[in-house]
Amino acid sequence: MKYLIINGSPRKQNTYNVIKQIKTNLDGEFEEINLIKENIPICNGCYRCFNECEDNCPHFDKINPIIEKLQECDGIIVGCPVYAMNVTGLLKNFFDHTAYFYHRPRFFTKKALVVVTTAGAGHKKVAKYIDETLRHWGVNKVYRLSFACGGKDSFDDGKINKIAQRFGDDMELHSPKFEDVMFYNVWKAMALSKDPIKADNEYWVEKGLVNHDFAPEVRLNIIKKTFAKIMFFILKMVIK
Ligand SMILES: Cc1cc2nc3c(=O)[nH]c(=O)nc-3n(C[C@H](O)[C@H](O)[C@H](O)COP(=O)(O)O)c2cc1C
Repeated sequence: MKYLIINGSPRKQNTYNVIKQIKTNLDGEFEEINLIKENIPICNGCYRCFNECEDNCPHFDKINPIIEKLQECDGIIVGCPVYAMNVTGLLKNFFDHTAYFYHRPRFFTKKALVVVTTAGAGHKKVAKYIDETLRHWGVNKVYRLSFACGGKDSFDDGKINKIAQRFGDDMELHSPKFEDVMFYNVWKAMALSKDPIKADNEYWVEKGLVNHDFAPEVRLNIIKKTFAKIMFFILKMVIK
């Protein structure tokens, strides 16, 4: 197993201590991206990733090596402290550079573990936000570990070990949430609309995603399959 760690903290302290404990539970190779060291300029909202192609992002040389590592890994670990009741600017800036994944999802067979620490508040909300972002990327299953540490930098190892082992042992492809099935069909309907964003249309057609109710690798039960078909039908009408 190959794990990619993305550290959204400018420090290697509280959140990083949790990640270190997680690593003791996992077998495999680890690669680490400390976003502070990547010096990724702020997303300037040029829309090139959406409308042209992600290769035309002015910060492609900074972003692409991380995307390649995401493609290569089996598991993603995203760590972030709470800053002003949200993610750090470092992580948000990275997420902004990957916003085109919402339109063109991928990573359907990957799982992720989200780690959030805070002094007192916001950890659950922030962990939920990162979880949702990763599922918009297409990630199959997201585990969460979040802690309010109140100034300490030691954590409940029992809780960390339990979730880390579940994450490490998880080899199955999980059934998606209804929300994920809906978003897949939103973007599929957009990509197939009369006047689609060219890059989206090409991606959905080239990858063959247009022929499926959800990511081809992931099985849907009959209820979710029916839901997907109805959603797509309605969305196609609405978008038309
Ligand atoms: C700029 C900044 C903003 C913060 N905002 C919050 C906050 O809104 N709520 C909170 O409870 N803790 C807040 N904290 C505390 C951190 O979330 C907490 O200490 C975290 O564990 C630090 O993680 P790290 O050691 O991995 O950087 C903030 C810390 C900093 C530096």
